[in-house]
Formats: sequence, C-alpha cells, structure tokens
Amino acid sequence: MGIVTVSDKGYAGERVDKSGEVIEGLVKDKGYAVARKVIVPDEEDIILKELIFMADHLSLDLILTTGGTGFSLRDVTPEATIKACNRMASGISEAIRFHSLQITPRAMLSRGVSGIRNQTLIINLPGSPKAVKESLDYILESVHHGLEVLLGESTECARK
Ligand code: MTE
Repeated sequence: MGIVTVSDKGYAGERVDKSGEVIEGLVKDKGYAVARKVIVPDEEDIILKELIFMADHLSLDLILTTGGTGFSLRDVTPEATIKACNRMASGISEAIRFHSLQITPRAMLSRGVSGIRNQTLIINLPGSPKAVKESLDYILESVHHGLEVLLGESTECARK
C-alpha cells in the first residue's frame, strides 16, 4: 500500500507529517506493508502523477491520502483522485463522514472521495492526525474485504 500526504507546509518542511505517520502505524498493525510514503504539495497535477505512479508502476492495491480535502482554494486532493479513478467507491467516503459526523459536525467539510483505478483502491482521508485515526478505525476492516474482492481473492461477501 502507499501513503500520500498532501500538504504545502509538509512538503516545504514547515510541518512534521504526523498524519502520514498515524496512517503508517495503523495499517502496519493490520498487516499491510507500506511500499511508498510521500509528501506532495497541494497541486492537482502532482497529486495525480503520484497516484498514477503508485497504481500503474508500483501496482499497489491500496493508496491512502491525507489532507487537501477541505474548502481552501488550495484543497484539490478529491479532484486529482477523481481524475485518477475509473470507478468511484463513494460508500467508503460516505462511511467516513457518517462516522465522523457523530464526533464533530465539521466532518461535513471534508470533500474526500474514494475510488478505484484498475486494481488500486484510493481513499482520501482528512488532514489532521485525529481525523485520520477516527476515519481509519471505522473503515479498515471493510476496506480489507473490498480489496479481497477487487483483487479476486474472494467472491463471497461474508456479512458482518
Ligand atoms: N473528520 C474527523 N473524523 N475528525 C475531524 O476532526 N475535521 C474536519 C473534517 N473531517 C475532522 C474530520 C475538518 S475541521 C475539516 S476542515 C475537514 O475534515 C477537511 O480537512 P482537510 O482539509 O485537512 O483535508
């Protein structure tokens, strides 16, 4: 899997990338290997290039992004993700907002999307370490099952 932190300040070295570290810790606990972890600026074409590189050249099954999902004019992570995907997986982002809204009404301000580029699932998470943890704790188990189906390892939808 790959982690993309989208942050002008992180990219410029003006802010430590705590959210990327939180993602790394949580996914490693669940047995994922992190093949690439990068910080990119809030530039749509750079984000898109990185997503395509991870999906097409590294063949990663999962990409988690953090940051750039809000209302600032520089927040363009969802737009880059939509361009990278050939099928959207809106339910994952709906689930993130559904769960997060029970923690803070500000969750409605994340424009994050989820989608699939061939055999790569891409999920946008909000930027703060707190939001990252709250989101991942809720979705990771179902995402694991989704990946099994995407990769053809499971055709059965064992319900929980
Ligand atoms: N989701 C959760 N679970 N917890 C949070 O604290 N913060 C919100 C929202 N989603 C938050 C959350 C806030 S304040 C904003 S502005 C948006 O995510 C967008 O964040 P981003 O621009 O850093 O991606």
